Amino acid sequence: MTDVAGIDDGRIAAVHATELERFAAAHPRSRELFERGRRSLLGGVPMTWMAKWVGGHPVYAANARGATIEDVDGHRYVDFSLGDTGAMAGHSPPATVAAVQRRLGELGGATLMLPTEEAAMVGEELARRFGLPQWSFALTATDANRWALRLCREITRRPYVLVFDHCYHGSVDEAFVTLDSGARPRSRPGNVGPAVDPTLTTRVCEFNDLDAVERLLADEQVACVLAEPALTNVGIVLPDEGFHDALRAACDRTGTLLIIDETHTISGGPGGCTAAWALRPDVATIGKAIAGGIPIGAYGVSAELSARIAGLDEADLVDVGGVGGTLAGNALSLAAAHATLSEVLTREAFEGMFALRERYVEGVESVLAARGIPWTIVSLGARAELCFAPEPPRSGGESAALFDAALEDALHLHLLNRGVMITPFHNMALMSPATTTADVDRHTEVFDEAIAALVA
Ligand SMILES: Cc1ncc(COP(=O)(O)O)c(C=O)c1O
Repeated sequence: MTDVAGIDDGRIAAVHATELERFAAAHPRSRELFERGRRSLLGGVPMTWMAKWVGGHPVYAANARGATIEDVDGHRYVDFSLGDTGAMAGHSPPATVAAVQRRLGELGGATLMLPTEEAAMVGEELARRFGLPQWSFALTATDANRWALRLCREITRRPYVLVFDHCYHGSVDEAFVTLDSGARPRSRPGNVGPAVDPTLTTRVCEFNDLDAVERLLADEQVACVLAEPALTNVGIVLPDEGFHDALRAACDRTGTLLIIDETHTISGGPGGCTAAWALRPDVATIGKAIAGGIPIGAYGVSAELSARIAGLDEADLVDVGGVGGTLAGNALSLAAAHATLSEVLTREAFEGMFALRERYVEGVESVLAARGIPWTIVSLGARAELCFAPEPPRSGGESAALFDAALEDALHLHLLNRGVMITPFHNMALMSPATTTADVDRHTEVFDEAIAALVA
């Protein structure tokens, strides 16, 4: 029997078993720390998602610098996962470290509930990059999305949000909705303790399905569309030509606001896909990478939306109205963001990251061609995603149907055992300003070994 990707099931299982043994033999100290963690940590890990790593338990990190992580057993890894974008600037970029040390040590004060001089500098830089003039800060992209949704609802006085099937925008309640096999909306499988059935708050359709977008916005009951410019959390699904123009036009016709979530798609360039593709969102949300790994979230709004927010009479934006958090906009995050944006994630850095991603893709394609494997790899700026099918998917549903957990596990573990990490979720690889051609070539080499093992 072969799996959906055309690889023999028995071969996948055999490779996985061999690699599990190799992993166990090479990681005694990580195993020991994991066993200890199981006594006090839910799932044995500080954050339950970390259980997702292959091998039966994660490797425990000792140190990380640039695009390299060293674990407690002394193994070094080229890191293409980069904290699933949280470390896209590379681990501990010197400029960010210096700014954090200065703020926390020399100047003093991480959380002051007072603005510092970097606040406006970061606002100005984000405004320049994304073309949205006014910004506000959170600690995570999840919260930036949550607060943006609240504002859109308050402004429009409409009940619904529209999202695309298999989207992910953080743990935002409204986005945990999916289409079932009959294309009916339903709560996403595994949704933990939803406060309300998300089909009461949210409409959902497939990415790139403009007819459905038109239909779902037509009654003018949708406050906003919440969308990534390209889906990145179910593999990468790129927009069809003209999709974003038509989406914007449909929003304009129906008075629906458009939130573009750039948390991952900042891989598309210094101003994300918003700048790269000349998008015109009412709100852009972001987080993860922009403070070099220090927690941050942010949302920017258009001049028109900013005026509408200023005109809200009943909304409490300065106390307990549901938008804001004690640690949001803290001095440390903003010092880190200022340094990261002005000195690390620069235009020149993106050019280098794009070139590396191109080399990475060429490496993968050469292996696939040489080994006769009809898969494809999809690119989005500094990000690339291997897809177990000859053609890239056009929707979240199509992409989800290509998932193959057994194959992913075997492939990821084979790479990990040879010093290469890709994201534990699907097959994403991301370049940082610190990634080198040698790192990329190492991936090509071990990817070839993995494929050779899987098709042997
Ligand atoms: C597109 C997108 N938005 C928001 C988030 C949430 O980010 P955070 O986990 O930092 O809240 C994620 C996380 O993966 C994401 O992919």
